[in-house]
Amino acid sequence: MFSKKPAPTIDSNRIPAHIAIIMDGNGRWAKKRLLPRIAGHKQGMENVKVITKAASRMGVKALTLYAFSTENWKRPNDEVGYLMRLPVDFFDAFMPELIEENVRVHVMGYLDDLPEATKKAALKAMADTAQNTGMILNFALNYGSRSEILDAARQLAQDVQAGTITTDQIDEAHFDAALMTAPLGELADPDLVIRTSGEERISNFLLWQMAYSELVFTDALWPDFTPEQLDQAVLEYQARDRRFGGLK
Ligand code: FPP
Repeated sequence: MFSKKPAPTIDSNRIPAHIAIIMDGNGRWAKKRLLPRIAGHKQGMENVKVITKAASRMGVKALTLYAFSTENWKRPNDEVGYLMRLPVDFFDAFMPELIEENVRVHVMGYLDDLPEATKKAALKAMADTAQNTGMILNFALNYGSRSEILDAARQLAQDVQAGTITTDQIDEAHFDAALMTAPLGELADPDLVIRTSGEERISNFLLWQMAYSELVFTDALWPDFTPEQLDQAVLEYQARDRRFGGLK
């Protein structure tokens, strides 16, 4: 007789504490349906709600979502305008559920360069959920990792100039503290990074923090990425052998 192997199940003791997602493929999702690109972004936003809840219920402690990069300003004005509107709509519509889920919102990026309404919505979402103690939903909005690293280097150079530290004292902890992920504390480095849509690159995302992350690339376009595919990515993560450069 054939013996059917049971499907592997997620080990609840080894849930990746921090998952980061490069949400790619909104444009192709829309194109496949002969819809304008912004329809893909709208569906992408709807999926942020679905995956946020799935991650929170799985026991993930921090979920970072790449919502807008410092390079995305190169897109047509109407698309950029729509992408800037999305956080406003998202927080307006989803705030009661975020509070019910005990999710704490954090937004990292060059917030001062955002349209006033977008910045205001981001700051309000952080303030409204500041007391929540569950998963941190960390949006990377107008974020770019090289700029973030350069800013950290500048800040440390200034600290040396001001005499608060010496060059010899610059270590990973000082660098971590100068990055935009510093408010995430010990969760700053993602354990698992997922990119949707079949592209296999990092696109200026969390370059320092990703040093030892496990990477999972999936063909699903972001609006089609399901909680079951999130489970699948976590199973793949759990099957990996994380050695952090050492030996087992
Ligand atoms: C990349 O797909 C996606 C983006 C640049 C935007 C991602 C934004 C969302 C998913 C919504 C964010 C929601 C909130 C609440 C801020 P693409 O447009 O490059 O797709 P393509 O490669 O298929 O053209």
